[in-house]
Amino acid sequence: MMLSESLKHLLANSYAFVIKAQQFHWNVEGPNFPQYHEFFGDLYAEVYASIDKTAEYIRTLDSYTPGSMERFSELSQIRGQLKIPRAELMFAELEQDNKIMLDCLNQCMAFAKQENAFGIENYLAERIDAHNKHGWMIRATLKKERA
Ligand SMILES: [Fe+2]
Repeated sequence: MMLSESLKHLLANSYAFVIKAQQFHWNVEGPNFPQYHEFFGDLYAEVYASIDKTAEYIRTLDSYTPGSMERFSELSQIRGQLKIPRAELMFAELEQDNKIMLDCLNQCMAFAKQENAFGIENYLAERIDAHNKHGWMIRATLKKERA
C-alpha cells in the first residue's frame, strides 16, 4: 500500500468513528446521561475536525479523495452499530474502535516515514496523541469505582 491509500482508510475509519460516537451522543440513556451525552459530543466533534485535513493530505499526494457513504463503508475497518447498546457497552465498543483508529494511524505513519512525508508525519503524530487521550478517557469511564 501507499501513503495515499492508507490515508483513505484513515478517512473512512474517522467517518465511521464519528458516526458511531454521534449515534451514542444521541441515544445514550441512564443516570449519567448529561456527562455521557456531552462526552460523546466532544468525542465526535474532535475527530470530525480532523476529517478535512486528512482528505486534503490525500489530494496533496495527488490522489483523489473518496466522498461517498458507499466508498467509506468499503474502506472502513470500523463497523457501524445498528442497535442501541447500553451505555457501558457503548464505551466498550468505542474503546475497541479507538484501537482500530490507532492501528490505522500507526500504519499511515509507517508509510509516511517510507515516503519521507514529514508534514504528514507531524499531523499523524498529533492524531495519535489525540486518540491516546480518547482511549484514556474511555477506559477511565469504564473503570469500576473502588469499594
Ligand atoms: Fe448534540
